[in-house]
Amino acid sequence: MTVLPKTVVITGATSGIGLATARSLAAQGVNIIGAGRSQSRCVEAEALIRAETPAARVNYFVADLASQRQVRALGSAIRELIQREFGGKLDVLINNAAAVSDWYVATEDGYEMQFAVNHLAGFLLTYELLPLLEMSACARVITVSSGSHYHTRMHWQDLMYRKHYFCLSAYKQSKLANLLFTREFNRRLADVSNIRAYAVDPGLVNTEIGAKGTGGLIQWFWNIRSRSGISPAEAAKTIVYLTAIPDIPQKEAVYWKECRPVEPSQYSKRADAAARLWEISEQLCGIVYTP
Ligand SMILES: NC(=O)c1ccc[n+]([C@@H]2O[C@H](COP(=O)([O-])OP(=O)(O)OC[C@H]3O[C@@H](n4cnc5c(N)ncnc54)[C@H](OP(=O)(O)O)[C@@H]3O)[C@@H](O)[C@H]2O)c1
Repeated sequence: MTVLPKTVVITGATSGIGLATARSLAAQGVNIIGAGRSQSRCVEAEALIRAETPAARVNYFVADLASQRQVRALGSAIRELIQREFGGKLDVLINNAAAVSDWYVATEDGYEMQFAVNHLAGFLLTYELLPLLEMSACARVITVSSGSHYHTRMHWQDLMYRKHYFCLSAYKQSKLANLLFTREFNRRLADVSNIRAYAVDPGLVNTEIGAKGTGGLIQWFWNIRSRSGISPAEAAKTIVYLTAIPDIPQKEAVYWKECRPVEPSQYSKRADAAARLWEISEQLCGIVYTP
């Protein structure tokens, strides 16, 4: 039996897979709290969902997830909204936002941008929303990873690729970090809370992600390659599926594709790597997770 969540937070809900997920869940009566980095795109996304589903309860917040200050402010705004309007309870957090950058970009916190947006922002936002997730009987933290995690390891000696930056290496590492975070989250919290974490591989999807922060060859390549990808709506199905099944029997099934658990890379299953990344992420965010 499927039980839809009542309230869901989705980052990167202004385009691609995040927007498609928000539209699909709103149409099924779920309260949507979306986040995006652009005011105008947030307004457009909210208007689109309201036009499609007039009864939808949908709220968008603007936050640049490259900034930890803005991630904390987003967490605070969402907590305030959920306390006021949604009974103080969050059922699902979907860490979906991600960016690709051709060149090295340092965030205001001094971190490499892809590592900051694609991994640290989800790590910190999950921490910020933990008290609300703990109020739900069956909460989920779903992080959108990628098949590109198979082809890499953590670059411990220079996690931010400060010395030799290469866009795809930084991207792949950030998607591996999504899986290590998911695994370590479950190790620390699954037995002492009602929250379970899952990671999703959406497959190749026809979105603009690889063309936004790039130019030249990478942009050209992505524009050609993405055309053979599935639609964002198709990719959103696995995320929507994971929000709605009440109990997933396979405790170890953390990585999902096409609504089925799939085997992640051997490296992503390394307990030492997951624990090490968790500790580093806590330091880089200035937090300590306590269930
Ligand atoms: N497309 C694929 O083939 C593919 C394959 C594997 C995994 N994925 C994963 O799927 C997820 C969604 O990607 P997508 O393909 O749907 O790409 P997308 O259409 O570009 O969506 C990414 C979302 O993240 C937002 N975002 C980017 N940087 C941000 C920042 N600094 N602060 C706040 N929001 C930010 C974007 O905002 P804007 O709308 O303003 O750009 C957008 O809403 C990502 O985690 C990606 O790694 C995608």
